[in-house]
Amino acid sequence: MKLADRLARLGTETAFAVSLAAADWAAQGNRVFPFHLGDINLPTPGNIVDAMNRAIVDGRTGYCPAAGIPELREALANNIGGDRGLELTGANIVVQPGGKPVITKFIQAMMNEGDGVLYPNPGYPIYESQIDYFGGRALPYRYHETPTGFGIDLDQLRQLAPQARLLIYNNLQNPLGCESSPDEMAEIARLAIEHDLIVLSDEAYFEMRYSGTSTSIASLPGMADRTVILYTFSKKFAMTGWRLGCAVAPAHVAAQIAKINTNDESCTTHFVQAAGVAALNDPSGSSPLLAELKRRRDAAAGGLASIPGITCATPEATFYLFPNVTEVVARLGLESVTDFAATALHNTGVSFCTRHHFGSAQPDETQHYIRFAYSGIDVDDITEGIGRLANWIESA
Ligand SMILES: Cc1ncc(COP(=O)(O)O)c(C=O)c1O
Repeated sequence: MKLADRLARLGTETAFAVSLAAADWAAQGNRVFPFHLGDINLPTPGNIVDAMNRAIVDGRTGYCPAAGIPELREALANNIGGDRGLELTGANIVVQPGGKPVITKFIQAMMNEGDGVLYPNPGYPIYESQIDYFGGRALPYRYHETPTGFGIDLDQLRQLAPQARLLIYNNLQNPLGCESSPDEMAEIARLAIEHDLIVLSDEAYFEMRYSGTSTSIASLPGMADRTVILYTFSKKFAMTGWRLGCAVAPAHVAAQIAKINTNDESCTTHFVQAAGVAALNDPSGSSPLLAELKRRRDAAAGGLASIPGITCATPEATFYLFPNVTEVVARLGLESVTDFAATALHNTGVSFCTRHHFGSAQPDETQHYIRFAYSGIDVDDITEGIGRLANWIESA
């Protein structure tokens, strides 16, 4: 059976290959420390589970409007608008089965074939996949390491911006864990306005922070009318498998995204949307979740930073660390960071992704990075896994 030509352009989350390697190693009777998983091993707060059960008993099991049930759209408009200082109504909200569909639908709704699309690299791999799949021109922009984390290479962004029509911006960032400074965000907004770019602001981690407050680029002057926000319940409420999120967009764009919903999934699961209303009305369950993630961050970042040859910042946001392991890769005499990941798994059971799972590396990259996610592993295992890694590296 001959497949459609465009499938050759569809990427994937290559990190799933890391899960397979880890599962294979575990199946051979070995202990695995799963730092590769961007999932959360903590339960969804009880009020949300109860609301979903009630909604099923109440018979909310049929189709519902493609753009989402009115009470959820209203609650999202109030919540997202309040947190970001945006004037929103339900007409700006299109409910989605998760945050990820917002990426696909943004590209389908806003990008013509051949349009240049700026996107972060390293970054969430689905951006590149969807740009290529729908025939756009991929324009990756890079980050540079700073004493406290990572920042966007604004010189490169300025150079590329005239070729672009769309800009994908992910703040707070996966996999880097970093956050734009106010100056960096203002410069990105300035470039978007100067070059008339339409922006996807991926805010999947907006609430996943341990101090300070987040800012949405949509709240900067001149940005609301040119920005679509990706919002998701996945991280804040430990609801990754529920599949609930939304696109926030100017009303005429939201209406077109709703039309794509009708063509794709008809509607997001009705009783899951009812549970989403309960989550927004009583978000208290997300505080213990963040407190636990902070304990894990401290254990993981502290442990990694204490290994000679590894430098690791302590991000205030997301649940990712992006340590620089260049010196260790050299000291172990390994060819690549991919070899480092494979050797580490087989010597210590510690499983993690590398820079190569987050977009194609640029030819001028000289440093090696790995990504540690600490959302799916308890503090004791973090400490033991990183201890094993340290002992192995030190004895090598
Ligand atoms: C940057 C970023 N955007 C979007 C998503 C997708 O979120 P969801 O699981 O809600 O589809 C993720 C998930 O890990 C992510 O890291």
